[in-house]
Amino acid sequence: MAQSAAPVLALDGPSGAGKGTIGQICSLKFGWHYLDSGAIYRGLAWLAKNEGVLCDDIVSLVSLADSMELICHVCETDSATIEINGHVVTDELRTDEAGQLASGIAPIPEVRAALLSMQRRCRKAPGLVADGRDMGTTVFPDAPFKVFLTASAEIRAQRRFDQLKAKGFDVNLARLLESIQARDVRDSSRDASPLKPAEDALVLDTSELTIDEVVTRILTLVN
Ligand code: C5P
Repeated sequence: MAQSAAPVLALDGPSGAGKGTIGQICSLKFGWHYLDSGAIYRGLAWLAKNEGVLCDDIVSLVSLADSMELICHVCETDSATIEINGHVVTDELRTDEAGQLASGIAPIPEVRAALLSMQRRCRKAPGLVADGRDMGTTVFPDAPFKVFLTASAEIRAQRRFDQLKAKGFDVNLARLLESIQARDVRDSSRDASPLKPAEDALVLDTSELTIDEVVTRILTLVN
C-alpha cells in the first residue's frame, strides 16, 4: 500500500474528552501507528520555554519546530511515553501548565505550518490513529474515519483531575475546570485550524459513555 493511502482514524475534540485514552486503545487494537499531535504542540512550547524563546518570537519558534525530533512510544500498560530530541519528557508535557503554554503558541499560523509535515509523515501503513484538534479538518482532511469526541467541561475536568492525581501530580479541580474552559475558548476561537468537528465526522458525546462503549462505537465505524 502506498504510504499516502494508509487509512487514518482522525480523533479530534477538546481537552479531556478521552482522545488520548481511546486513541491509544484503538491503535493497539488495529495495530496502527499513533500520533499524539497535542504532544507536538506541548513539546514545542516546552522547548521554547527551556530555550528562553518568547511566544511572540515566530522566527525562533519556527526554527525550533524545524529541528524538533519527537518520538511517541505507545505501550499496553501505561500512557504513551514522549521523547523530544532524545530526552524523555512525558511528565513535563503532561502538566496543565504545558497544555496552557501549547495553547498559547498553537494559534500562530507559521507554527502550525511548520508542524504540518511532521504530522503528515506519521501516516504510514498499516494505518494511523491521529489525535488532536484539526486532524479531520486540516492535517488529514481525506481521512476515511473521523470522530469528534466531546463531553461537558465538568466531566472533562474531573477526568483530567483523576488522571493527573493518579500520576502523583498535585492538582486542584476548580483550577483545572477554569483552565479547560479557557483553553476551549482559545482553541475554538482562533483563526488557524480552530477546534471544530469536520463536516463528515461522527460526533460522540462521551459524558455518559464508558471507555469500552466509545471504543466499541469506533470499532463499528472502522470495521
Ligand atoms: O491535546 P492536548 O491537550 O495535549 O493539546 C494541547 C494544546 O495544543 C491544545 O489546547 C491546543 O491548543 C494545541 N493543539 C492544537 N492542535 C492539535 C493538537 C493540540 O492546536 N492538533
